Amino acid sequence: VAGVPPSLSARVVGSFAYLTIRDRLPTILTKVIDTIHRNKNKFFEEYGEEGIQAEKQTISLLSKLRNELQTDKPVLVLTDGLPDTEFWNQYLHRQQRLQGDQESVSWFKSPWLYVECYMYRRIQEALLLNPPISDFDVFNEGKTQSFFESQQAVMALCTYLEGVNKNMEELSKNQLFEHFSRLLQVSLWGNKCDLSISAGQENSQKTSPLDSLSALQPFILVDDSNVVWSTLTAAQRSGQPGGTAADRVDIVLDNAGFELVTDLIFADFLVSSGLARQIHFHGKLFPWFVSDVTANDFQWTIRQTMAANHKWMSKSGVQWQTYVKQGVWRYHDHPFWTQPHEFCDMAADAPDLYAALQGADLVLFKGDLNYRKLTGDRDWDHTAAFKTALRGFGPAPLCSLRTLKANVQVGLQPGQGEKLTSQDPNWMTSGQYAVIQSYNPKSE
Ligand code: F6P
Ligand code: MG
Repeated sequence: VAGVPPSLSARVVGSFAYLTIRDRLPTILTKVIDTIHRNKNKFFEEYGEEGIQAEKQTISLLSKLRNELQTDKPVLVLTDGLPDTEFWNQYLHRQQRLQGDQESVSWFKSPWLYVECYMYRRIQEALLLNPPISDFDVFNEGKTQSFFESQQAVMALCTYLEGVNKNMEELSKNQLFEHFSRLLQVSLWGNKCDLSISAGQENSQKTSPLDSLSALQPFILVDDSNVVWSTLTAAQRSGQPGGTAADRVDIVLDNAGFELVTDLIFADFLVSSGLARQIHFHGKLFPWFVSDVTANDFQWTIRQTMAANHKWMSKSGVQWQTYVKQGVWRYHDHPFWTQPHEFCDMAADAPDLYAALQGADLVLFKGDLNYRKLTGDRDWDHTAAFKTALRGFGPAPLCSLRTLKANVQVGLQPGQGEKLTSQDPNWMTSGQYAVIQSYNPKSE
């Protein structure tokens, strides 16, 4: 597309995209295969011989997938008949048109974002083609482990939340802002804990993140916390005497485990402080990028928090369950979140979702993959404006909370990117740096 930088791709040998496709994705597929194999007995117990057959078939489809990837075979159409199959197959044609007839759409030649998303969809296809085990979440073990290993940190956060909620009435506006800012940063740094960047390792939070916030502050490259605060406090509704709350904040979730808890804590604070009346969470329809939240993870996490053997943690869990029952919190999933599209395509390709997001006063996009989709996963100059990279996407005021794990970053000061590169060549992919980056279409 004229004037728009190219998509990141494994075509660039040695790039992060290249290394991901060459090394990390096959590792993830191998782990998936191992996981299915390890659960063979469980499948047998549940489904008898049919379960064993399904296990074998699924593994053989996944091995074939890994081989296609490693030998840069053309991307194939999907055949499982899930309602989104047609979208994926149309998208493949779209890519083929963009690339021209000379070469096939393939793992190392096509946009990284597309083929990486496609891999997760193909994992889903392998399961869907083997009905008895279609619902098996191949990433479940890692997600639950990340949750349990972060217990200490979760307890510390719930205790902090209790302290804030208890004194809410007495807080000055400045104190409220302080808590807001801290919990926003906790949710930001929660994004360090995803399972996909490490190909499934090191994903829990052992210590309380509250203690490290000031040490981490210099690693936040863009900090629009003030803009987010103003958006929330300015969303004053008419006809609500004395109310300063935003009607609705949407959170486009990223990872289960510790990160999800930090999101729920922040959402709890937004409601209990009166900064928002309602929270809409957006999750994934099927297991995605190893650790992303599905409906099952969302419910499971709330149930586990309720059942915890810790006073403030279980109190938080009970409160969250109540919010869900009352409809103050709502969980949604939409096929678009598990498709490969850049978000600038949302208005045309998922108009219902775009319209739904327009109803929010603020949309928070958690994590790296969402940032890649916001910016189209393209090779932008670091000084390009966030607005430019969004290419017209802006259903509502929005903010990305993201630790950097891919080669795309916009909205930096002139020279900032160069300086970072000289200090730490891996600054864009190490997960050490972060942004709180906002855009408000209404203030244009
Ligand atoms: O390849 C590493 C990676 O899978 C990126 O592709 C992706 O953007 C990221 O990890 C997932 O991170 P997050 O969970 O923050 O979206
Ligand atoms: Mg993720």
